[in-house]
Amino acid sequence: MIVNCNVNGKNINLTSIAPDRRLIDILREDLLLKGTKEGCGEGECGACTVLMDGKAVNSCLILACQLNGHEIITIEGLMQGDEMDVLQKSFIENGAIQCGYCSPGMILSAKALLMTIPDPTDEEIRNAISGNICRCSGYNQIVRAIKSASKEYLVKKSNNDKDE
Ligand code: FES
Ligand code: FES
Repeated sequence: MIVNCNVNGKNINLTSIAPDRRLIDILREDLLLKGTKEGCGEGECGACTVLMDGKAVNSCLILACQLNGHEIITIEGLMQGDEMDVLQKSFIENGAIQCGYCSPGMILSAKALLMTIPDPTDEEIRNAISGNICRCSGYNQIVRAIKSASKEYLVKKSNNDKDE
């Protein structure tokens, strides 16, 4: 089948693709976006999380036949040129990354949360990342990183609003 979608702001035309090819394989193997990680491969660990139309989804469970017309953002798509996203910086600054395997998925789940709830409570943060398993860094640092990023986004937004 032919699939047209948008990945990280670029229109992508996938020709002769099997309808049951998984999004994670399209991203990693066809588009060489290796930031998205595979853990369990069955929707349990969240390592493969990406944004689809702004919502966090497990890319190991999304198939090519579900992609037409949709917008996908991967961890690579959060970069603004050479500049890391606020969330990416905050994870580093708050010691929320050790081996880093869960981090892309964790950050994208956090991004989806902050796009809908800009100033979340700890409980809302824990709920948003409940489908993302981290085996090493500890969830307290991750929650702290997301909280701190939320404050920084709010400051940035208020500065931008003042400039307008
Ligand atoms: S690899 Fe997709 S949820 Fe674990
Ligand atoms: S930092 Fe290693 S799994 Fe989360």
